[in-house]
Amino acid sequence: MSSTTLPRSVILTGDRTTGPLHLGHYVGSLRNRVALQASHEQYVLLADAQALTDNSTNVAKVSRNVIEVALDNLAVGIEPNTTTICVQSALPALAELTLLYLNFVSVARLERNPTIKDEIQIRGFGRDIPAGFLCYPAAQTADITAFRATLVPVGADQIPIIEQTNEIVRRLNRLTGSELLLEASAMVPKIGRLPGVDGKSKMSKSQGNAVPLSASNSEIESAVLRMYTDPNHLRASDPGTVEGNVVFTYLDAFDPDVDAVAELKALYRRGGLGDLVLKRRLIAILQETIAPIRERRAELSRDPEFVMDVLRSGTAKAREVTRKTKEAVMEGLGMFRL
Ligand code: TRP
Repeated sequence: MSSTTLPRSVILTGDRTTGPLHLGHYVGSLRNRVALQASHEQYVLLADAQALTDNSTNVAKVSRNVIEVALDNLAVGIEPNTTTICVQSALPALAELTLLYLNFVSVARLERNPTIKDEIQIRGFGRDIPAGFLCYPAAQTADITAFRATLVPVGADQIPIIEQTNEIVRRLNRLTGSELLLEASAMVPKIGRLPGVDGKSKMSKSQGNAVPLSASNSEIESAVLRMYTDPNHLRASDPGTVEGNVVFTYLDAFDPDVDAVAELKALYRRGGLGDLVLKRRLIAILQETIAPIRERRAELSRDPEFVMDVLRSGTAKAREVTRKTKEAVMEGLGMFRL
């Protein structure tokens, strides 16, 4: 029997560094990252270059949040000796691969990408679409292929980006007649996007409906107290609706006691359970979830040199890995090399 172990599949996640992460990120991705790091080779890319594609007038914000997002990852339990945390803009091979890949995708195809189409609408670019923004699927292809990642945890909205990644991969493999690059699969969390505390849309800092991972107990309390429930559930004795009731959505996401939540739902439907009782339960659970994260985050932010060291060593490792892929692509394409 061979003593060599099979290579572990590589996971790459990216966080655009536009603001500190919140409970929505925790449920949708951070929690999974922590679970996956033991069994996979994992990279967390702080995607500041991609964040610039729709924040070009706010470079300071993007830059400042590199550290904030690093702190969030470390605070939830990402182990920097196990997971490599690295900074996108400090990885020249990603920019070089992007430039190459842009020759293997048409402007029309980029414009047809459903994610890009939606995001252009949401951002209200009109005809003034930053070229970098339109082309970010090619840049993300560079990210994914450079790390040789085959598993990419993303929200469902990012699936078309991964599909386009695989198109570019297949094109280059066909062209070079080799398995130069690997196709990747999107890992979409089973639990959907966490709604904001207003219940209106997904949790987002810009909507003012987010609970940050640094929230204090009283901030958590006031966020839950103003949470949307069932507007027709006026008295505790009234039958209430569970669907679309944000407090239940959060209990489903955070309460480890699934059976107890099922009983609470039944009682709420029948009538006899007041919103406040339910909210008190959620407040306690969220406070318990956030407290260790908040404390670890505060501790780490008092040690900026440690965080900088994590970023320096993670980025140094990533620089090697991504450079090797870039070399292989240049070689595979038969480019001139000095
Ligand atoms: N586009 C991703 C998002 O908005 C962020 C991202 C950048 C990413 N590079 C990546 C995700 C590479 C996965 C892999 O969520």
